[in-house]
Amino acid sequence: MNTQIIKVDPEHPDIEKIRIAAEILKKGGLVAFPTETVYGLGGDAEDAGASKAIYAAKGRPSDNPLIVHICDYSQLEKISKDLPPEAKKLSDAFWPGPMTLIVNKNGVIPHETTGGLDTVAVRFPSHPVANALIRESGCMIAAPSANTSGRPSPTKAEHVIHDLNGKIDAIIDGGPVQIGLESTIVDLTEEVPTILRPGYINKQMLEKVVGEVKVDPGILGTENVHVRPKAPGMRYKHYAPKGDLKIVSGDQDKVIAEINRLAEEGENSGKKVGIIATEETKDFYHIGKVISIGDRTDEYEIAHNLFDVLRKMDEYGAELIYSEEFSTPKIGNAIMNRLLKAAAHQVIEV
Ligand code: TXA
Ligand code: MG
Repeated sequence: MNTQIIKVDPEHPDIEKIRIAAEILKKGGLVAFPTETVYGLGGDAEDAGASKAIYAAKGRPSDNPLIVHICDYSQLEKISKDLPPEAKKLSDAFWPGPMTLIVNKNGVIPHETTGGLDTVAVRFPSHPVANALIRESGCMIAAPSANTSGRPSPTKAEHVIHDLNGKIDAIIDGGPVQIGLESTIVDLTEEVPTILRPGYINKQMLEKVVGEVKVDPGILGTENVHVRPKAPGMRYKHYAPKGDLKIVSGDQDKVIAEINRLAEEGENSGKKVGIIATEETKDFYHIGKVISIGDRTDEYEIAHNLFDVLRKMDEYGAELIYSEEFSTPKIGNAIMNRLLKAAAHQVIEV
């Protein structure tokens, strides 16, 4: 298949170009497009065939449900039933934006889109290109992240081209995304709203709007690796670079010393070594490929660069990768959730 690359201005997309992509969606085709979180791989959410094609293109297990992207609150009402009052409160506060709500579904969205579940994940993205595409196509768009299943999520069009060129009809190139981590998923089908995947919208922000919010014990990290996460996608090995990634945690001086020791050991055994550092620490490492993820004091920059850095480690061919830890104040949970999964929870405490 020849994949059309459609370049647009992310802030003011040319509507004629968006229409080309919208026509593809209307005919059951697949289009990758930028959102404020990561790039999505879109198809008509009401078309079971389009959903099947999305699973095939990504190599994704078909029991892992897709997120339905909308451009108006009334579409949430159209595809759900028994909407709790929190749906309105949270959407008023955070939509359009990087939050996905899990609600009970009615019959409008087929089970092929929801991985056989009776609930549906819904998000109203804020990115102008995503918005224009939903509007112009007249479709609600089912879209997982536009990466090959298991690889880091795509934050640039080049990442999507790398994974999906030749497998889908079109890719809208709107440059790098803003946030770089996937949306916060909030399950509204439980007694208390529950975070199934942490993201830019954190627990404190949600609690200000709806009071008590729980976190799915299955995503709480290293102590809870045996608990099964509720979101099917959080159960799979994910985000993984090809090299063996380990996180080194502790006081900065000790972390630097340990990473240098491990890097030397790795290099002496003939392995290609990669180091994920920060602007503050990058000059203290002298072995292998050192990539700065950003300024340690700017957690949004770290989030924005994380998946790109993991992909760069693959490009370099790193076989052993050592990363510093990034438990930053606001979105550290979201960053470390991805990094720990990428590292298969291998943490070295110093
Ligand atoms: O930011 C995002 O959410 C991006 C952009 C493209 O919108 N999308 C994204 O989709 O990250 P995906 O498919 O990579 O991740 C969706 C996650 C998966 O972990 C999936 O299992 C979970 O949402 N999910 C979807 N529907 C669900 C449901 N009904 N119940 C529980 N989890 C659900
Ligand atoms: Mg994904």
